[in-house]
Amino acid sequence: MHHDQPPAPDPAAAKAPLVIIPTFNEVESLPGVVTRLRRAVPTAHILVTDDASPDGTGAWADAAASADPQIHVLHRAAKEGLGKAYLDGFAWGLARGFDPLIEMDADGSHRPEQLPLLLAAVRDGADLAIGSRWVPGGEVLNWPRRRKFLSRGGNLYVSIMLGLRIKDSTAGFRAYRADLLRSLPLEGVEAHGYGFQVNMSMAARDAGARITEVPISFPEREAGVSKMTGSIVREAMWLVTKWGLARRWRALFPRHRTAQIKPR
Ligand code: GDD
Ligand code: MN
Repeated sequence: MHHDQPPAPDPAAAKAPLVIIPTFNEVESLPGVVTRLRRAVPTAHILVTDDASPDGTGAWADAAASADPQIHVLHRAAKEGLGKAYLDGFAWGLARGFDPLIEMDADGSHRPEQLPLLLAAVRDGADLAIGSRWVPGGEVLNWPRRRKFLSRGGNLYVSIMLGLRIKDSTAGFRAYRADLLRSLPLEGVEAHGYGFQVNMSMAARDAGARITEVPISFPEREAGVSKMTGSIVREAMWLVTKWGLARRWRALFPRHRTAQIKPR
C-alpha cells in the first residue's frame, strides 16, 4: 500500500460516500461496475483496494484514477484476503472524512443501481445497512443449489452460535456510518476471508449499532472467477464456532464491557 500521509479531511469530500471495492483479478468486471457506480451515485468516491492482481486490475484502476478525481486506488503488495483489504480501505476513508463507507464487490453481484437503497437506510437512522439476499424481497440469481445451501446454512449457523438477528450476516454489500467504524475495535478483527463480514456484523451488534437489512437482488458474476475456497469457508466456520463458545462462556462469567457507539 502507499505510505503517503493521510491529508487533513478534504471539506469537499467530507460527508461524501466512499465505496470501497476490493479486487483480485477483476479486470473484466471492474470497469463496468465503476462506470455504473459513477452514474448511479455521482457524489460517491470510489476506492479500489487491489492486491497486486496479476491480470492488470490495478493498472486499469490507476488509469481510471488519473482521469477522474473521484476514483482512488490503494495498492497492496500481496493477496491477503478481503478483510485486510477492507480494513486498509476503512482507515484510508476515515482519515479523509468520508461518510458513510460502503463495501461492494467488483464482479457485478452488487448492483450499483441499488446503492441508493443502502444510503437511504443510513440517512433514515441505520448505523449499518446490509444489502440482504435472505430477507423478503431479496434474491440470488443463477447460483447453483450448492452455493445457496452453503449461504443459508452458514447464516443459520451464525445466528444460532452468535445470537445475531441478521438474515444475511455474510453479505458483502454494506454501508457503515463513519462513527460506527470509529467506535469498533477493528484491531481485534480476526477473520480475513468471508468470515470478515460475520466478524463485522458481530462487532456492530456488540457496539449497540442500529442494523437494517435492505433486500437486494444478487446476480452471479458473468466474468472472472469466485475467490471462495475451502480454506475461506473453514476459517469462517472455525471462527464462528470459537466466538459462539466464547460468548456462552462470557454469559456464564460476565466481565468485560464493550465500547458503545457515539450517538448522532
Ligand atoms: N483485495 C482483495 N484481496 N480482494 C479480494 C480478495 C483478496 O484476497 N478476495 C476476494 N476479493 C474481492 C473480489 O475480487 C471481489 O471483488 C470481492 O472480493 C468478492 O469476491 P468474490 O470471489 O466475487 O466473492 P463471492 O461472490 O464468492 O462471495 C460473495 O459472497 C460472500 C459470502 O456471502 C460476496 O458477496 C462476498 O462479499 C460475501 O462475503
Ligand atoms: Mn462474487
